[in-house]
Amino acid sequence: MKSKHIVIFSDTDGLHEGNLSKAFKKQGVSSSRVSLMDCQLNYGENSSGLLLPGMHDTLPAAAFVRAIPDGSFEQVTFRLDILHALEASGVLVYNTARAIERTVDKGMTSFLLARDNIPSPSSWVCESAAEAQKIIKKETRGDAKLVLKPLFGNCGRGLQLLDRSSAVPSEEEVDGVYYLQKQILHDGPQARDWRVLVIADRAIAAMERISDHWITNRARGGKCLPAVLTPEIRELAEAASHSVGTAYAGVDIIRDTDGKYLVLEVNSVPAWRGLQSVVEKDICQLLADDLLRRCGSTTGAAMTPV
Ligand SMILES: Nc1ncnc2c1ncn2[C@@H]1O[C@H](COP(=O)(O)OP(=O)(O)O)[C@@H](O)[C@H]1O
Ligand SMILES: [Mg+2]
Repeated sequence: MKSKHIVIFSDTDGLHEGNLSKAFKKQGVSSSRVSLMDCQLNYGENSSGLLLPGMHDTLPAAAFVRAIPDGSFEQVTFRLDILHALEASGVLVYNTARAIERTVDKGMTSFLLARDNIPSPSSWVCESAAEAQKIIKKETRGDAKLVLKPLFGNCGRGLQLLDRSSAVPSEEEVDGVYYLQKQILHDGPQARDWRVLVIADRAIAAMERISDHWITNRARGGKCLPAVLTPEIRELAEAASHSVGTAYAGVDIIRDTDGKYLVLEVNSVPAWRGLQSVVEKDICQLLADDLLRRCGSTTGAAMTPV
C-alpha cells in the first residue's frame, strides 16, 4: 500500500532537509527524514518486502535521495538495493539508483559522456599501476599534467596532480582503480569552473566557483559567484544530465584556454547551499515541485494533501 508521504533519505537534519520538508509542506504534502541505514528488506512482516522506519506496512509515494552514507561495499550495495526495490515497487525515487550508480562512478560518467559526444576532458580508467604509469608517461609530455581522482570521490577530496616526475600512487592508495584525467588549464590567474543545476533536462541556475588553488570546490574554499547561464553552458549541462539519466543534477563545467567548455562530472546527489547563496530562485521549491509533478504523472493520480 502506498501513502501520499515523501521520504527524504539523509542522515542529518541540515539546511537541505529542513528546507525540502518546508517546500513539500507548502504544497500540502508531508515528509520525513529517514536514514537508508535503518531500512530493511523484510519479507516476514509486511507485504511489500520493504520496511522503512515510521512507515509500517506502507510505502511512500516518493523518496528524495539526499545522501547515501558511506560504508563497506556490501553496505553501499544494500542501500542501493533499497532504492532499486522502492522503484520496482512503484515508488518514485529521485534520483534513481541507476542514475546515482552511473554518476557516483566517475569512470562510467566519462564513458557515457564520450558515448554521447559531450565534450569532457580525456580520461583513462585502469586497475594496474604499471598501466597507469604508461598513461602518465605518455600524457604528461611538456607541461601537461594529469588529475588522479578517486573513482567515487566528491567535494574535491583525494585529487592529485601528476606530472612526468610523479611517482604513481600504489594500488592500495587508489582502492585498486586509477581514474586519470587530462588537466585543463585556465585562461586567468585563478582556477574557475561552473556548477549548473539541471532539473528535468533544463538548466535552471548556475554559479561560478573561483579559487587560488586548482581545486575549486566550495568545500575546499572555492568562492561561489553568481553566473549567467549562457546558451553554451546551458546546452552542455542539459546534455550531460540527459546522457547519464538524472532527473536533476549538479553539473560541473570547466573552460580551457581556447574558451571551450567541457563537462568535468555530473553530481546526482548534489548539495545546493553554495548555489542557493548566489541565486534568487528557491532551489528547494523547484526540486520539490518537480518531484511532485513526476509523482502525479507516474502514479497516474495527482498528489492529494495529507
Ligand atoms: N581535469 C581537470 N582539470 C582542471 N581542474 C580539474 C580537473 N578535474 C577536476 N578539477 C578541479 O577539481 C574540482 C573537483 O573535481 P571533480 O571532478 O568535480 O570532483 P569532485 O567530485 O571531488 O567534486 C573541480 O571542480 C575543478 O576545480
Ligand atoms: Mg565536482
